[in-house]
Amino acid sequence: MAAICFDMYGTLCNTGVVVDRLVEELEVSEALVTQLDTSWRTKQLEYTFQLGLMDEYEPFWQVTRDALDFTLARYDLDPDNETRLRIMAGYEALSPFPGAIDTLAELQDAGHTVAVLSNGNPAMLESLADEAGLSNHLDAIISADEVETYKPAAAVYENAAARLDTPIEDCWLVSANAWDVTGAGNAGMQTCWVNRIHDPHERIGPGVDAVVPDVPGVLAEVP
Ligand code: LAC
Repeated sequence: MAAICFDMYGTLCNTGVVVDRLVEELEVSEALVTQLDTSWRTKQLEYTFQLGLMDEYEPFWQVTRDALDFTLARYDLDPDNETRLRIMAGYEALSPFPGAIDTLAELQDAGHTVAVLSNGNPAMLESLADEAGLSNHLDAIISADEVETYKPAAAVYENAAARLDTPIEDCWLVSANAWDVTGAGNAGMQTCWVNRIHDPHERIGPGVDAVVPDVPGVLAEVP
């Protein structure tokens, strides 16, 4: 039996609701909301990569808040702190993608160990897993925070294998982020890329073991 680790944001849960929060909380045009969303996500990701390369760490909630504050400043917006906190709270109220819960349940029923492996810090992940109805179908929620660095650093995937008491080559990482499956493969995990947007394959790293169009696609790939 394998240990199957799932990325959280954008893989099990749809981050689209965060856009709705921006619309609700800021009186700006739809076009600007799209720019804000893109800037916020890009900066959030860049900060995790930058912190890792600088051998520095701050929790994902703080990284996400810093990226939001940067983005608001970039577009000359200055909502009060309460408004910023309401926008941030969107991260704890995401919906699971269709079939995500059933997929976790089916993998568990088949005897696999099922976990979340995410850059999110534990408090964020636990409240989201409860809110989204995932908690009952997870054996573990493993945060990058445990090793105070971010995916795609090998230490994060190695820690997950250790936590699940499973040799790393018997662990799978399922993620919609190509950089995440590349990192997991590099660390020695088997990988399943949820390629919803038909992106081309990465040009660096070991390549992926399986590509699926959505989370339920994983069921046909994991032995
Ligand atoms: C996560 C982000 C990176 O859940 O998607 O780790």
